[in-house]
Amino acid sequence: GTATGGGGQSGGADDGVITLGFSQVGAESGWRAANTKSIQDTLTAENGFDLKFSDAQQKQENQIQAIRSYITQGVDVIAFSPVVETGWDAVLEEAKAAGIPVILTDRAVDSEDESLYESFIGSDFVKEGQMAGEWVVDQYDGEGYKVVELQGTTGAAPAIDRKEGFEAAIEGSDLEIIDSQTGNFTRAEGKTVMEGFLNKHDDIDLVYAHNDDMGLGAIEAIEAAGMTPGEDIKIVTVDAVKDGMQALVDGKINYIVECNPLLGPDLAEIAKKVVAGEEVEKRIVVEDQAFDQEAAKEALPTREY
Ligand code: AHR
Repeated sequence: GTATGGGGQSGGADDGVITLGFSQVGAESGWRAANTKSIQDTLTAENGFDLKFSDAQQKQENQIQAIRSYITQGVDVIAFSPVVETGWDAVLEEAKAAGIPVILTDRAVDSEDESLYESFIGSDFVKEGQMAGEWVVDQYDGEGYKVVELQGTTGAAPAIDRKEGFEAAIEGSDLEIIDSQTGNFTRAEGKTVMEGFLNKHDDIDLVYAHNDDMGLGAIEAIEAAGMTPGEDIKIVTVDAVKDGMQALVDGKINYIVECNPLLGPDLAEIAKKVVAGEEVEKRIVVEDQAFDQEAAKEALPTREY
């Protein structure tokens, strides 16, 4: 299934097998683990794929290197989840020149030239941030809440968009973001940054974490400081992975907006169509729900991830 190269369209799956090179962001969170599993479980030999997978450890240069290597190998399709939004045009132009189609999953690039990729499959992160902000306003407006924000990886689409959506939703309320820093989407950094916030501010009412893992790190920091997470300091997060949902059921997190990581099936379908030369939708929006404690209790027993 490897392309013969020479420009123009890729060689396609002439042996019936689609060789797909996937460059993953890293292994920073429970969400990412579920996303990787979905991709590896779906793009199987039985399903007609030869999956080449690489983990970029949250480094753009590693992703660019992986993509270049997929171009050199002449894969049929390249798919990746860009760690940050900017700086992709050069390598995407190389893929285009080699006739290898590119599919974006999970995170977007900010390229002006939309012909550099076939399709973008993923959630609406602005909407996720907005859902989080709307719930917070609905619950706590009028109480003068002081909010600290644990941002995702600097420059990543979900960090930029979840911040923007949340800020828009709380505008006009009396909620105030008093501090905001990146915790790089990891539990360890979420904990460290929260420790710093707790040392600096004695009036924190609520943590808005851009993912469950950073919220779980914040729980550890709050407990270590002798306070009760979910009560003394409220916590709102995004993802709804099992560990987050368990903390919500336990009352340590107050609300979670979902981000669905199960992108494998959509990726497989779009990749097959692209290789077959069929038209595909430029943007496939994955729908997300949100959970309060009651909803989490109901959903957790049958949660897939
Ligand atoms: O891009 C999706 C985000 O990346 C998830 O919300 C976060 O957990 C992951 O690291």
